[in-house]
Amino acid sequence: MIYLDNGATTFPKPEVVYERIDEFARTQGVNAGRGAYKAAREATAMIKRVKDLLLSLIDAREQAEVAFTPSVTVALNMVLNGLEYQPGDVVYVSPYEHNAVLRPLHLLRKRQGIKVVELPLKKDLSIDLDQTAKMFQQEPPKLVCVSAISNVTGYVLPAREIFLLAKEYDAVTLLDGAQAIGLLKIRFAQTKADIITFAGHKTLYAPFGIAGMYLKNGMDLEEFIVGGNGIQAENPEMPRYMPAKLESASMDSVAIAGLEASLTWLKRINTWEYERELTEYLLQQLENIPGLIIYRAPGDGEKQAGVISINLPGFRANEVAAILDYKYDIAVRAGHHCAGLIHNHLKNKEFDGTIRISLGMFNSKEDIDQLIKGLKNIDRKLLKNIDNEILRGNC
Ligand code: ALA
Repeated sequence: MIYLDNGATTFPKPEVVYERIDEFARTQGVNAGRGAYKAAREATAMIKRVKDLLLSLIDAREQAEVAFTPSVTVALNMVLNGLEYQPGDVVYVSPYEHNAVLRPLHLLRKRQGIKVVELPLKKDLSIDLDQTAKMFQQEPPKLVCVSAISNVTGYVLPAREIFLLAKEYDAVTLLDGAQAIGLLKIRFAQTKADIITFAGHKTLYAPFGIAGMYLKNGMDLEEFIVGGNGIQAENPEMPRYMPAKLESASMDSVAIAGLEASLTWLKRINTWEYERELTEYLLQQLENIPGLIIYRAPGDGEKQAGVISINLPGFRANEVAAILDYKYDIAVRAGHHCAGLIHNHLKNKEFDGTIRISLGMFNSKEDIDQLIKGLKNIDRKLLKNIDNEILRGNC
């Protein structure tokens, strides 16, 4: 298989990650933060070490702490439900947000009467900062949610600039780093985010099962998911201090051990540089295919991560993805990529979304050459061999 779906999860993982998971699960896979015996203490110390590595990764040591969650969707639900709202409070979202942000906000709109407003885009689909400033002035934000990188076009959003505007109104600023932490070279203080969420299994090259959030010192959230965490067990309430207030349930220490290995691996490798090189190559090759529609980040290449969407006139997005899989064993994702809003701006209704190519550290230019060959030779006749359910797609 030629795997070009790294936006969904990076695959494969670095060899050291598999080795560490296996070793940890076999020799140290006990429950952390509970028992006081040696192995449990070691698992607890390992978790602390990994949090320190994550803090160092974005220069957040003195400014933030990390709370772990089992997935970034859980982290985002905890953040969005952990803030207190008054009916009519205005929450701004970029049109590039994922359903992990949009759906919790939709529920909050129904249940608590908040107002959710999309940030404005220019013609080239970059965020319109002048217009944003005007909108904030007219309706001051309570909360502003921005993805660091779009999972549809690879656009590196101007989060810092948006958050600087939001801070004029003391809004809470949330950066969804699911597609970015480990890839983008960012420093916590520079982002002007109060909270940054991350997913271990994507640009951090760790396994599924570990994700979380960076919380700026002093940032308090109400609990959303509660339960045991080995601290003040006789108290029916969660501990009142962060991040213990947010962390309940057994942690996936095996996944966290995998994350420790991937973070150590990432220290030696510049994934951004490699992805940029591959992305430029991909774009050059795609531009040579007549008629192909390319949805990419606006502006110069510096705002383009290794995620590009395309469509082939005459085919639904899912049809192309199904043929690439069936005939060439190439794995790409097609559809709306759980990011509904941006497709209104991409105007791709007739295609039912986009075909998304997302690159990772284990891709090569040869993979891209194979993809281009596949795209150039797409043949409608092959569709009759493919199951209808696959052709319909699921997102
Ligand atoms: N959010 C993941 C994606 O973009 C699953 O594919």
